Amino acid sequence: MALLKVAFVLFVAAECVHGQSFHLGKCPTPSLQENFNVTKYMGTWYEIEKLPAMFERGKCIQAKYSLLSDGTVRIHNSELLPNGKINSIEGTAKVEDPAKPAVLSVSFFKGFPDASYMVLSTDYSSYSLVYSCSDYFDLFHVDFAWILSRTRELDGATVGQLREGLTAMGVDVGRLSVTNQTGCGEVAWA
Ligand SMILES: *[C@@H]1O[C@H](CO)[C@@H](O)[C@H](O)[C@H]1NC(C)=O
Ligand SMILES: *[C@@H]1O[C@H](CO)[C@@H](O)[C@H](O)[C@H]1NC(C)=O
Repeated sequence: MALLKVAFVLFVAAECVHGQSFHLGKCPTPSLQENFNVTKYMGTWYEIEKLPAMFERGKCIQAKYSLLSDGTVRIHNSELLPNGKINSIEGTAKVEDPAKPAVLSVSFFKGFPDASYMVLSTDYSSYSLVYSCSDYFDLFHVDFAWILSRTRELDGATVGQLREGLTAMGVDVGRLSVTNQTGCGEVAWA
């Protein structure tokens, strides 16, 4: 278990030197979406922009969330690979502390540490701003961020506002990359 954790840290560190998501010091404590309602958050979200994330190499990236009867969220992430195939990954998420409903704990692989999924801001029907951060040995942290939309396009004004939100918490929005959401329609998405 400890060995797995070290291997994971090395993997993350290697990825993040490349993606430049590595920072000294502890994770910031962002302000979260008030009165977050996970039920209203279910369904499909399209990735508009992101801070470099390691499991994503394709385009047309989207996430489908569904609420299971035990309150756990099933995650189904898909992307379109350059060879035209759809690559999918399944995970689960759950609210750990009912007092903080906008903080979910996400798990993709058994035996790997969970990642946080913090909903900073959403109106449920058009946009969502998501942040994730992990502390390592109290020495450094690795963070990720996503601007998500209910459709494959999000208006520039909203994107600008969400970027400002990230800037306010110290995230360098120059590190955001735009996800290509064009030419996705001809594929049969799950
Ligand atoms: C959350 O949203 C669902 C679906 O709109 C609604 O039925 C439920 O009452 C909401 N929960 C709270 C606590 O507002
Ligand atoms: C996005 O994908 C489309 C369709 O595959 C392609 O024509 C376009 O050049 C891509 N855009 C960028 C910015 O890479």
